[in-house]
Amino acid sequence: MIFRQLFEPTSSTYTYLLACSETGLAVLIDPVAEMVERDVRVVDELGLRLAYTLETHVHADHITGAAGLRKATGCRTAGPAMDEIPCRDVGLREGEALQVGTIEIQPLFTPGHTDGHHSYLVDTGSHKMVFTGDGLLIDGCGRTDFQSGDPATLYRSIHDKLFTLPVDTLVYPGHDYAGRRVSTIGQEKRRNPRLAGKSEAEFVAIMAGLNLAYPQKIDVALPGNQRCGDGSAKAPSA
Ligand SMILES: [Fe+2]
Repeated sequence: MIFRQLFEPTSSTYTYLLACSETGLAVLIDPVAEMVERDVRVVDELGLRLAYTLETHVHADHITGAAGLRKATGCRTAGPAMDEIPCRDVGLREGEALQVGTIEIQPLFTPGHTDGHHSYLVDTGSHKMVFTGDGLLIDGCGRTDFQSGDPATLYRSIHDKLFTLPVDTLVYPGHDYAGRRVSTIGQEKRRNPRLAGKSEAEFVAIMAGLNLAYPQKIDVALPGNQRCGDGSAKAPSA
């Protein structure tokens, strides 16, 4: 499998390129509108054909590059079916894999950050990788205080679904604000300060005490993402 971890610095978003080395078919997980040109260039440089963009959830902190990439490459746009985004071409559900050449992407329903949030599990044959969006982050987790978020639901998603994966599964988050790129399920179980050894009630109390600022881009990002980012190639003012 061909793999690249790409970064957008304004929202500290990771976009993941996965491609089948036999067919050259590629998928971009959580692309960002401002980075469409870069993403097209990377796909071209590697001699790949973009088959899909794939969203973990409806983002509040950035606008998706899905529509821009569809326009530029003819790819199809995919994401959780339960988000009910009309401009998406493919709706995914847990239990129904997305096939990209020889790569099988397994959606895992991991609500809590949003009510439709999914993670994506890939088994390369030599190791497992899970793309956790804004559910599980390295030494942290996604916020649960807006956009249908719910801390008890997120706790159960992480404990029941992500923490039951093999401990050496590689964890690739949707964001990192301190330059960390990858972790493992074992590392997060052992040392994530919000989750390691914490009960559901303790986790809910931690999340309730965060007092986070209102997301700067939410008022442009949510309507923009309802349109798959169409007409949003320029950076919205923060
Ligand atoms: Fe998010």
